[in-house]
Amino acid sequence: MSGMSGMSAPPTAEPPTAARVVDASKVYGSGEAAVRALDAVTVGFPAGRFTAIMGPSGSGKSTLMHCAAGLDSLSSGSAYIGDTELGPLGDRRLTLLRRERVGFVFQSFNLVPTLTVAENITLPLDLAGRRPDAEWVNTLVAVVGLGDRLSHRPGELSGGQQQRVAVARALAGRPQVVFADEPTGNLDSRSGGEVLDLLGRAVHDMGRTVVMVTHDPGAAAHADEVVFLADGRLVDRMAAPTAAKVLDRMKAFDGRPADTGRDAAVRGSAGS
Ligand SMILES: Nc1ncnc2c1ncn2[C@@H]1O[C@H](COP(=O)(O)OP(=O)(O)OP(=O)(O)O)[C@@H](O)[C@H]1O
Ligand SMILES: [Mg+2]
Repeated sequence: MSGMSGMSAPPTAEPPTAARVVDASKVYGSGEAAVRALDAVTVGFPAGRFTAIMGPSGSGKSTLMHCAAGLDSLSSGSAYIGDTELGPLGDRRLTLLRRERVGFVFQSFNLVPTLTVAENITLPLDLAGRRPDAEWVNTLVAVVGLGDRLSHRPGELSGGQQQRVAVARALAGRPQVVFADEPTGNLDSRSGGEVLDLLGRAVHDMGRTVVMVTHDPGAAAHADEVVFLADGRLVDRMAAPTAAKVLDRMKAFDGRPADTGRDAAVRGSAGS
């Protein structure tokens, strides 16, 4: 009916989501010690896009990533990779789905200390019984700048080098979805820029989906969209982010400036 034509029907269909959670809650512990890390979050990560997740420390970013990737289970609600709901899958099928379709960069790296750098990078493929694509693995190693460290073990690497191994490992099998929890948190700006370019390439050249947690507005600006969490809730989304816009949005959280630590120190010294 013509009366409906003024309503904003979307001009193009939304892209399918590579991963999503619906009404997702996660409670750690019970009784008085219970922590509601996620509180009824519904969010989709569109296929072939780069999404950043931002929010204050403790707002539930890592919890959301772990639950969306099937590494942890929700207390209520549902999580999907593509069209597959994770909750009803048994451990074995969940493990297979993760191996075949998901890459994960942990905030704490999670490298295997007894394996070399090269072995760590191809570990997900070895576990899945897949042959690594040598050319792609060489490209990853070159981009993350670890060519001269391949026979070293994680304990012999700096934090930033370990982080780069973790990024190469997550991308080695060209998974459909890559979840990266602060993948540039320990890197200098040049290495960080290279890791962000690599993640961007996985999305824009290879059609993969990347979901990245970051505290850095400059890193978030590499994404197609930023979603903001606060106190376990989804509070905002921003398309076409720039570092300046993201910084402004972060300052608006609770009406506090983003850099509360330094402000507190300034106030402290002013008051003494
Ligand atoms: N295993 C756990 N047991 C109990 N509480 C937990 C556990 N993991 C996380 N939490 C709590 O859940 C909340 C969300 O934690 P989460 O790690 O998701 O935050 P985050 O946004 O990733 O923070 P950061 O930016 O510091 O990494 C926090 O209050 C945290 O203390
Ligand atoms: Mg975290």
